[in-house]
Amino acid sequence: MEIRPYRESDEEAISGLWREVFPDAPSWNVPEDDIRRKLAIQRNLFLVACADGRVVGTAMGGYDGHRGWVHLVAVSPSHRRLGVGAALMQRIEEGLAALGCPKLNLQVRCSNEEVVAFYERLGYVIEDRVSMGKRLGPDARR
Ligand SMILES: CC(C)(COP(=O)(O)OP(=O)(O)OC[C@H]1O[C@@H](n2cnc3c(N)ncnc32)[C@H](O)[C@@H]1OP(=O)(O)O)[C@@H](O)C(=O)NCCC(=O)NCCS
Repeated sequence: MEIRPYRESDEEAISGLWREVFPDAPSWNVPEDDIRRKLAIQRNLFLVACADGRVVGTAMGGYDGHRGWVHLVAVSPSHRRLGVGAALMQRIEEGLAALGCPKLNLQVRCSNEEVVAFYERLGYVIEDRVSMGKRLGPDARR
């Protein structure tokens, strides 16, 4: 298994992976758009796991100067429980630490208990926060 930054040739495979792994994603999460936006900002923290030349996992990291964030951590169902997700997260943590980032945050839907267990296994703790958000720009009214 290899973990490397995103390459343009990954787009179709990654879009397919996300549509499979996140079937309930909101309509505004269009994989091709998410990829395009990420390529403009810290694209080296957009990581892809490959096995036998095939995309089997992703993690999209970023640092805003105060906190690091990770999104779209996804492993193909055919390659779960093999350490792929943990390896992706380790590489994201290393990349953020190299930028001087002191803390990594992430969001998980409350209903996604299995994923909470995964992150807890990696040392993440549930924090007493309310997660808030607001859509910006042309998407704001969607
Ligand atoms: C969560 C996910 C990324 C885990 O990927 P993975 O490659 O299977 O995880 P790993 O094999 O690296 O597991 C790392 C540790 O977490 C544990 N773990 C993984 N999945 C788990 C689960 N569903 N329930 C409990 N523990 C789990 C593993 O047992 C392992 O612990 P160990 O070191 O003691 O064996 C994967 O299940 C996934 O893509 N889920 C759907 C997408 C999703 O919801 N992503 C999160 C968005 S916030």
